[in-house]
Parts: sequence; C-alpha cells; structure tokens
Amino acid sequence: MPAARPHPLPGLLAWFARERPQVLAHGKRVAALMEMLAEELGLPPAERERWRLGGLLHDLGKAWVPRRLLQADRRLSPRERQCLARHPEAGAALLQRWLAPELAAPLLPFLLLHHERPDGRGYPFGLKGSGLPLEVALLSVADAYAAMRERRPYAAPRSEQAARSELQAGAGEQFHPRAVALFLRALGPAASRPSPAP
Ligand SMILES: [Fe+2]
Repeated sequence: MPAARPHPLPGLLAWFARERPQVLAHGKRVAALMEMLAEELGLPPAERERWRLGGLLHDLGKAWVPRRLLQADRRLSPRERQCLARHPEAGAALLQRWLAPELAAPLLPFLLLHHERPDGRGYPFGLKGSGLPLEVALLSVADAYAAMRERRPYAAPRSEQAARSELQAGAGEQFHPRAVALFLRALGPAASRPSPAP
C-alpha cells in the first residue's frame, strides 16, 4: 500500500501500472474516449485533462481488489461481487492518500460515482435520477463501451454495432440517455471506427 502522504501523479500512475497493468490498459482506452468527448464539447484544455485523468484513473480502486477476482472467468459469488463493488470507494480513498487535496478533489467524482445508474440500481450510493455530473454519466458510458469492445476473461469482444445497441438499450436504466446520445454522436458513424485493441 502507498504511504499516507501526498505523491505526484506520475508516481501514482507508475504504482498503478505495476499493481494492475490490465486495469490501467482499460483506463487508457477509456481516457482516449473521454478526450474525444471533451473535444466534441469544445472544452478548454484544463477540463479536457481532468476528463482524461478521470478516464485513466476511474478504476484505481481495483488495485485494492484481489487479482483472482479481477481475472476470474466464472460468475462471482455474491460475496465476491460485494468486494468488487467496493472499488469506487477504495479508489477514492487511494486517490486521497496519494495526491494533495487540490489534485485529488476534481477527480474524485469519476472514481466514486462511475457505477451509479439513473434507475438507482448502481453503487455505491444507489443515486437515482439525473443528478450525476454529465462527465461522470459520460464516463460510465465510455467505460461500458470500452469494456464491451475488449477481450475479457469471461467474454469475447463485442462488435461495434452490438456495443452501440447495448448502450442504446441501457439508456434510461443503466445509462443516462443524454450521455448515450452524446457518446454515440461523438463516436461518429460505425464504419469509421478502427478495430478493437487486442
Ligand atoms: Fe469501475
């Protein structure tokens, strides 16, 4: 575990890369999508960088989750799912241990709230409705899209069209409809996207 004093961001990223390289690789794909979204919205550079870092670090708390759970190619037990579901709070706590408050605070909503859902069935708080910041609602969509397009221990990559359809089907329940619409618009026509990363 990291020491309880502020560390600069590069140190945190190097530690995360050593601890959970596959989680960080997924974070990089989500970060690229978040940059794309920030650009689509014409945000200023500082805000783009915050969105990029939010994507990169959103699953930091998985450094706290045992590797065997992250790599499991079977259905997790209820107790294991509970453990995994603690990664948003674990990530927020880790971020606050590593970074000074002025660096950590703008990134915390990404780590803490990216598994909330508009139907209230998300975690850790079960926040219902449209109260989430737009950037967090977008992160939740980008995270799901990237995950569907990647090879996972328990699933083959989905086609782009299947991933898009899944997002549309989840709009209003799992995902905020505005975030889905914005994401799909920013992604552009299906045929223009490159193949998924190996
Ligand atoms: Fe997550």
